Amino acid sequence: QPARAVDLVEEESGAPGEEQRRWEEARLGAASLKFGARDAASQEPKYQLVLEEEETIEFVRATQLQGDEEPSAPPTSTQAQQKESIQAVRRSLPVFPFREELLAAIANHQVLIIEGETGSGKTTQIPQYLFEEGYTNKGMKIACTQPRRVAAMSVAARVAREMGVKLGNEVGYSIRFEDCTSERTVLRYMTDGMLLREFLSEPDLASYSVVMVDEAHERTLHTDILFGLIKDVARFRPELKVLVASATMDTARFSTFFDDAPVFRIPGRRFPVDIFYTKAPEADYLEACVVSVLQIHVTQPPGDILVFLTGQEEIEAACEMLQDRCRRLGSKIRELLVLPIYANLPSDMQARIFQPTPPGARKVVVATNIAETSLTIEGIIYVLDPGFCKQKSYNPRTGMESLTVTPCSKASANQRAGRAGRVAAGKCFRLYTAWAYQHELEETTVPEIQRTSLGNVVLLLKSLGIHDLMHFDFLDPPPYETLLLALEQLYALGALNHLGELTTSGRKMAELPVDPMLSKMILASEKYSCSEEILTVAAMLSVNNSIFYRPKDKWAESGYSSQWCYENFVQFRSMRRARDVREQLEGLLERVEVGLSSCQGDYIRVRKAITAGYFYHTARLTRSGYRTVKQQQTVFIHPNSSLFEQQPRWLLYHELVLTTKEFMRQVLEIESSWLLEVAPHYYKAKELEDPHAKKMPKKIGKTREELG
Ligand code: CDP
Ligand code: MG
Repeated sequence: QPARAVDLVEEESGAPGEEQRRWEEARLGAASLKFGARDAASQEPKYQLVLEEEETIEFVRATQLQGDEEPSAPPTSTQAQQKESIQAVRRSLPVFPFREELLAAIANHQVLIIEGETGSGKTTQIPQYLFEEGYTNKGMKIACTQPRRVAAMSVAARVAREMGVKLGNEVGYSIRFEDCTSERTVLRYMTDGMLLREFLSEPDLASYSVVMVDEAHERTLHTDILFGLIKDVARFRPELKVLVASATMDTARFSTFFDDAPVFRIPGRRFPVDIFYTKAPEADYLEACVVSVLQIHVTQPPGDILVFLTGQEEIEAACEMLQDRCRRLGSKIRELLVLPIYANLPSDMQARIFQPTPPGARKVVVATNIAETSLTIEGIIYVLDPGFCKQKSYNPRTGMESLTVTPCSKASANQRAGRAGRVAAGKCFRLYTAWAYQHELEETTVPEIQRTSLGNVVLLLKSLGIHDLMHFDFLDPPPYETLLLALEQLYALGALNHLGELTTSGRKMAELPVDPMLSKMILASEKYSCSEEILTVAAMLSVNNSIFYRPKDKWAESGYSSQWCYENFVQFRSMRRARDVREQLEGLLERVEVGLSSCQGDYIRVRKAITAGYFYHTARLTRSGYRTVKQQQTVFIHPNSSLFEQQPRWLLYHELVLTTKEFMRQVLEIESSWLLEVAPHYYKAKELEDPHAKKMPKKIGKTREELG
């Protein structure tokens, strides 16, 4: 086969036009794509090692992300291995030369916006500087918020190590259902949601001297709400310092919002990154990822690889596929360490991604977009970006929230690429075409507040005494309909009265750190005397899809052994987490005046209590499949559900996930009469009548009989 030339596509060469697009689409199903991840411009040798036939992907080098530093060779593993002392590492971070200047700026301004490249030391260093400067004297605390649980935990652990203290003593973290802090904890890393909840017990944050809202550019719902609340508190507490830290995006907006607060820029340290695109779109990006990782591994010089996928299931699948193929290739390739990182990953596993790669080996970290800006992994030279992320979206007309895999934004794609240029010149392989980048990706991600339901947040704001939500100081306001629907739903759940005021029941619901429907369910367990069981349901729902682990091939390998399933299919750690969550919720029962009680096997009571919380999420079987009761939207039982075959007539669901279809996940069979019992204000008997009952296909009737 003649060696193919690699086309060099310049970014500015303009759109290839409709014809090119059609051509690209036509290639979508092409079976044989040739991998040629090599740099035509620099005349790197052509690597022709093909791992498996027809499993190659062709990339073209297109653009370069400019760096501030001269390109350099990747560090050899011995260099990377050389362990400097922790203090020397601290002094080597980009923020360090600005320590004094930064502290002076903080002393001089109440609100300071801090902008800096990922990995410059904002999260780990600035709180320490403040600690050293005496901001925690007299028992005052410093809060640093993170949008992600994993980041809060891992950063706190790192800082504790740097300060030589035990995690949970001077430095700790606090995330939902897990508090690793003590009386002594003055540096508190916490999720943005947790700081939001702090307002419930301490509306003026009086015990905090500094609040650092970190990763502000992520614009999570909780971070956005924090902005409004903190801006307000800062007016009453002139001594409170507010820091808004962000990657290099959007900082002017933060400054404007905080009455033109000054922006402190930490100059980055960034090596150039070559960007490669695929010549043709990839139909299966997961498979393409696995192939590309192996191709990089066998053809590219040393340096670790970072892969961005959208969630735990995908990451587990990719890691399995990679390990499997490495095993098959055996000694034909050098050692490849495959390490996953996602929100639910146990902390000892998380820690592994930060350990240096052994000499001669290569590390591949398969991550969610947590690795985009929240975590910095040293030694990454190659980034593989399929261009997707999991994103919530919300339709206020139907009240339907869904989590879908969507193309990431250009801003995200560039942050991802930047991860390759932290220690040396790097390469970023995008598993999409240059055309797609230019024409199909949005510039920036829409703030979460504009694409999520607001029930939780509205309940919280109401509990804080903020009644006029329409005039709350939002950085970007949510859609009017979303706000309205949240109020309606809270009214239907009995959390608000007809004047929009918080009811006693609403106050209790706000006490529980779970979604309004879940907290309503817990409150209802009092009436149905089944709080023991309901707590378990709530705990399991809060760790939902991570309980089961689905290694597709392994089951076959072990001869379909039931023992093997028993030993492996249920994730012990998720169960332990569920147990912890349950314990915490149990501890809160007294506060919301629910006694401990058990249904003693009468599970109808448990199902009714669940219905009392979830009557909003109901679907009925019609001749054309499931329809939601109120909105008449077509939905499907997820194939993983044990009710998938049975197809009960009335269902409620915990959540709706849009993948290939609108799937209901975690479903429960209910009786339509229960809806009238638990929510007479919401349902009319007439709409629960079943006009098609007699015309239902026989088979379904039979199944119901069989079920008794
Ligand atoms: O917040 P920012 O992105 O500016 O940087 P950082 O998270 O404070 O990271 C500063 C340095 O600490 C980087 O070199 C990270 O690799 C390192 N770090 C680490 O080794 N382990 C962690 N868990 C977090 C950070
Ligand atoms: Mg950070």
